[in-house]
Amino acid sequence: MNTIDELIVPRTIPALWQAKRQNQPIVMLTAYDASFARQADLAGVDILLVGDSLGMVIQGQRDTLSVTLDAMVYHTLVVRRGAPQRLIMADMPFLSDVTVDLAVQSAGRLMQEGGADMVKIEGGPAKADIVRALTDAGIPVCAHVGLLPQRVRQLGGYRVQGRGAEDAARILHDAETLTDAGAALVLVECVPSPLGARLAESLAVPVIGIGAGNAVDGQVLVLHDVLGLNSHPPRFVRDFLRGRGSIGQALTAYAAAVRDRSFPAEHEGYI
Ligand code: KIV
Repeated sequence: MNTIDELIVPRTIPALWQAKRQNQPIVMLTAYDASFARQADLAGVDILLVGDSLGMVIQGQRDTLSVTLDAMVYHTLVVRRGAPQRLIMADMPFLSDVTVDLAVQSAGRLMQEGGADMVKIEGGPAKADIVRALTDAGIPVCAHVGLLPQRVRQLGGYRVQGRGAEDAARILHDAETLTDAGAALVLVECVPSPLGARLAESLAVPVIGIGAGNAVDGQVLVLHDVLGLNSHPPRFVRDFLRGRGSIGQALTAYAAAVRDRSFPAEHEGYI
């Protein structure tokens, strides 16, 4: 007879918390279909993110705003087929989380129809009630702070966030409010490396960074960027396919570089 301890499977949220406590960097990568999900699974990526970046890299749109919940459910489902055992996070697309009821319905579809293990929500304190309601309903949430691509119209572009003391304090406050509301993980995008470090130090939950320096608890990149398909890559992107013979080797190299903290290097972050 198995004990409860033996029944706790790896790649769950408690396993990610344990990784943070043991200072083991968490590897996350986006995936949008079954074949690439399988490659990432074989490479040992910890979390597959079905990102709404699919609007750009799959659909050829200029931003994420036109991605629908139906599209997210579909891509989550096919990623789940490619990686049946892997922890899968699905993005809540633009406007799918503007009220508590709508957010519970949208997240419910991503989990029940798509097979996601958790959802990711962009935003600050205005999303606290939604994060609390989802968490209370048994839906684990990752809070996305820093640069919020769904606010690109308000921001006027994809810019580094948190550069002044006031803006840095605001981002810290956003993350604290959302973790107080129950967020199990935080993703921080495009902030100076010292702010990434501060977030990881002050929050009890794992902080996954993209363009947030090396001193966070894990890294995420967009699959197509890792494979060198971005013709105008931002500074925090590294092409892991360059000099390697296969996609499998590139993804394995990415996972290894996150785990030994050789990625990102200092020049791949912001100051
Ligand atoms: O949609 C996405 O790909 C993201 C990135 C931050 C990884 O949210």
